[in-house]
Amino acid sequence: MGFKVGVCQFKPELMQTEKNLKKMESLLESVSADLIVLPELAVSGYLFNSEEEVKSIAEDPNNGPTVTLFQKLAKQHNTSYVVGFAEKTKNGIYNSAMLVNPDTSIHIYRKTHLFFEEKKWFKAGDTGFKVFKAKNNVKVGLMICFDWIFPESARSLALAGAQIIAHPANLVLPWCQQAMFTRSLENGVFSATSNRTGKDKNGEKVLNFTGMSQIVDTKGQIIYRMNKFEESVFITEIDPLESENKDITELNNLLLDRRTELYRS
Ligand code: ACM
Repeated sequence: MGFKVGVCQFKPELMQTEKNLKKMESLLESVSADLIVLPELAVSGYLFNSEEEVKSIAEDPNNGPTVTLFQKLAKQHNTSYVVGFAEKTKNGIYNSAMLVNPDTSIHIYRKTHLFFEEKKWFKAGDTGFKVFKAKNNVKVGLMICFDWIFPESARSLALAGAQIIAHPANLVLPWCQQAMFTRSLENGVFSATSNRTGKDKNGEKVLNFTGMSQIVDTKGQIIYRMNKFEESVFITEIDPLESENKDITELNNLLLDRRTELYRS
């Protein structure tokens, strides 16, 4: 079954939510695909200095500007989207990603492993690693950025049946893109890492993001990687059913050969 999956890389401007939503809309305007993954905190930018700043950009996932825009795009283009945003709830603010489907259904993942100063602004995610149905019932597992360094994240999604890992990111360390080859290979899943580009500057603080958004197949082979700086959308056609085959040899299977009785938790 052909399924068109894509990554959208761009440079969000810090706390310019309206401008960032407009930019995403224009990048996605003429693109035809089944699933497109956008970066972590794509709506707000990343480098905050206070809780007030985070509160000012956080939004309700049920009726905020992000869900409103992506439900419109999902219907109009018959596409599922995964986009990172700051999720306002009555218990606090999460660094979340939203899957929005053409039938306007939404599913939320809240980042499990918070990176560095995110721990000051966001609550640690409580959703766990869930797999959701995207367009054509393709099974999509969500994780966000630094979740990559914990192999349990991708493994949990594979055990839950993910065919594609949708991975919004704001990467600043140099290792993730290479490591995702292994995450895909060891779990027999496709991965789509959508990283942002450019820098955020807030007062004295500056962060440079590494771009190089990429799509990797179930054998850990790179299908495409963007460069560090471009703002663009890349789409490729995959067969999600390839992820159902977890055999590595006739006598080895990625999931069935695990010896969980010998592993530590
Ligand atoms: C990160 O988790 N944004 C590095």
